[in-house]
Amino acid sequence: MAKILQRIRLVPNVHLLEVEAPEIARRAAPGQFIMIMADEQSERIPLTIADWDAEKGSVSCIFLTVGTSTRKLALLQAGDDVPVFVGPLGKPSEIKTFGTVVCAGGCFGIAAIYPIARALKAQGNKVITVVDVKARYLLYWEDKLRRVSDRFIISTRDGEAGGTNEPHYIAAELGRLIAAGPRVDRVTAIGCTYLMSACAEATRPHGIKTVVSLNPIMVDGTGMCGACRCTEGGKTRFACVDGPEFDGHAVDWEEVYARRKSYFDDEVRSLCAWEEKTFG
Ligand SMILES: Cc1cc2nc3c(=O)[nH]c(=O)nc-3n(C[C@H](O)[C@H](O)[C@H](O)COP(=O)(O)OP(=O)(O)OC[C@H]3O[C@@H](n4cnc5c(N)ncnc54)[C@H](O)[C@@H]3O)c2cc1C
Ligand code: FES
Repeated sequence: MAKILQRIRLVPNVHLLEVEAPEIARRAAPGQFIMIMADEQSERIPLTIADWDAEKGSVSCIFLTVGTSTRKLALLQAGDDVPVFVGPLGKPSEIKTFGTVVCAGGCFGIAAIYPIARALKAQGNKVITVVDVKARYLLYWEDKLRRVSDRFIISTRDGEAGGTNEPHYIAAELGRLIAAGPRVDRVTAIGCTYLMSACAEATRPHGIKTVVSLNPIMVDGTGMCGACRCTEGGKTRFACVDGPEFDGHAVDWEEVYARRKSYFDDEVRSLCAWEEKTFG
């Protein structure tokens, strides 16, 4: 059991969940995740640790409402309990002095990139943060991210924040950054599979190491079930214990796309049944 300290909607479809979890807060590192169950009937789902406060003993995650479990989470209130909140899981991000690093984030990745950007900045890197949102009003945690970034770029699909009238996308933004110089030494990209694979393709011709945080379906999160199998450099990996961060240039993206869709029909059925039962 873990107590919800707060659950607030940050922008449409995106919620912050702060949970009392002193042990996890004491041991958390950038890049790690937790497994949560919204209630006794829910599946276990992984969420990235977006922030933590060791003194207060709390851990914060940001989630998008996409299906049954995340919709259940979005109904939780301060004081409620969740039956499962375990972590920290996964390998922490590699934090070293690389030089100029780009932290690219979209959807929940805007929050997931935050502890990585903070740690890279504290390590003496020049941090350029690039965030992707469909429109400016969907951006959250701008102040937090600006505080740990030397440069902050907002890429919107409607072109509003970019100062042009042309829609653009984070991978194109990344391409422009690389072309303009100075040299980018490393990129970390977190968000939907498309965003991460597009960022990896943008950096591939330039040989810039690009780390992606894969989000395959996970069941136990501890390397026992095999659900999160993926392939990196021709080798089988389990994202929950060998990752979730991998070399974006070595990931078999077709496999990631295919495996993420494995239960699509069941997920839609589950959501319809739950909505019917909950809202009539
Ligand atoms: C390491 C990791 C960290 C993640 N961090 C975040 C985060 O910080 N914030 C966030 O919003 N999302 C995060 N995700 C994705 C999140 O786990 C899924 O959005 C969530 O499980 C969807 O559950 P659902 O029941 O609401 O949706 P469903 O309708 O069940 O599924 C919608 C889609 O979500 C994916 N999904 C479903 N079940 C799982 C599962 N058990 N594990 C992984 N993906 C699943 C599938 O691609 C599916 O098509 C992360 C995933 C991984 C693997
Ligand atoms: S989630 Fe079961 S092996 Fe990774």
